[in-house]
Amino acid sequence: MPFKTLDDLTAPLGLTAVVRVDFNVPMENGRVTDDTRLRVALPTIRKLQSLGAEGVVLLAHFDRPKGRRVAEMSLKPIVEPLSALLGQSVGFAEDTPDHPAYLDAENLSGGAVLLVENTRFHAGEETNDPKVAEHFAQLGDIYVNDAFSAAHRAHASTEGVAHILPAYAGESMRRELTALDAALGNPQRPTLGIVGGSKVSTKLDLLKNLVSKLDYLAIGGGMANTFLFAQGYDVGGSLCEKDLKDTALEIMAAAAQADCRLLLPLDVVVAQEFKANAANRTEDIGAPLTDADKIFDAGPRTVDELCKIMASAKTLIWNGPLGVFELPPFDAATVAAAKFAAQQTKSGKLVAVAGGGDTVAALNHAGVADDMTFVSTAGGAFLEWMEGKVLPGVAALEA
Ligand code: 3PG
Repeated sequence: MPFKTLDDLTAPLGLTAVVRVDFNVPMENGRVTDDTRLRVALPTIRKLQSLGAEGVVLLAHFDRPKGRRVAEMSLKPIVEPLSALLGQSVGFAEDTPDHPAYLDAENLSGGAVLLVENTRFHAGEETNDPKVAEHFAQLGDIYVNDAFSAAHRAHASTEGVAHILPAYAGESMRRELTALDAALGNPQRPTLGIVGGSKVSTKLDLLKNLVSKLDYLAIGGGMANTFLFAQGYDVGGSLCEKDLKDTALEIMAAAAQADCRLLLPLDVVVAQEFKANAANRTEDIGAPLTDADKIFDAGPRTVDELCKIMASAKTLIWNGPLGVFELPPFDAATVAAAKFAAQQTKSGKLVAVAGGGDTVAALNHAGVADDMTFVSTAGGAFLEWMEGKVLPGVAALEA
């Protein structure tokens, strides 16, 4: 790793650590409805405590208050579930102009945990204002970034503060970066990517980067229709970005040039109604479709071919479902491919890393999320990393 991790710290620490976590969690009526991201923060908090940290000060954002104090975007509802998970009571710093957070942070002892109010209540957080970075740096002696999922933002709490305090990658950040490196940075070959989702337009940079890196790339979901259309196949009334025909052809040419074999659907499942269990049929690509026909999933021949390639691959990186997996039976291709990936991973033949957007939901739906080598809970950060972009929050740790 080109940066320091918590293994570079030695006990007894006797310091207060400022830890950037991602508590941008699903919430309904002021209650956390999915605590995955709270759980993700636990190993770092516990490790700092076991090293003898006097205080652990947690910085996080919630939603997009744009520099204003918005009561519904307070982090206060996190205190109770986090205290329950940690088995100790977590303090809360309002961090107002009259009572800045450092007044609550300065006397922490014995591994006390303090959560600071939404970093984005500061107008200078998102502009990476050095004064706000300094304000956060005042909260402790070292900085630990454990929020990979917010590392694509160059904000005061994710980037600026890393240049002021000695900076370390937290346990989850380290785990995430190690997994991502094994998938795309320094993978065992052959490598296979699966990219699905509805639109090519949202994944252009990602497709361009992946064809330059991978041995095989399977394209599924609505975006595959744009590629089929570009090749002259009938897509009926399916979701299709016809104006991106040339872009699709360019991506195909770039793949051929880079020796990346593209796997586009060989057959498709077609229905006329967008609802679960709608009457449907399987067609080979090239079959004539009417305007009422819509492609909702990849067909069984496509899945067979994909699994054949997966059986020979050593590394899989997966982003996006192959069909409309929320509406059975149009989940069939996604579920079959996910189950096969899980089986290959469990038997030690495949390193499978997945993340971004609907991918976690799709793998949960298939019941195999726990069987993958690593599933990232990051959305935008995972996509930007797959696009080959530098993540400012990670780069700042390397400086
Ligand atoms: C996320 O939920 O993906 C991260 O917390 C980033 O949130 P943002 O898109 O509001 O910056």
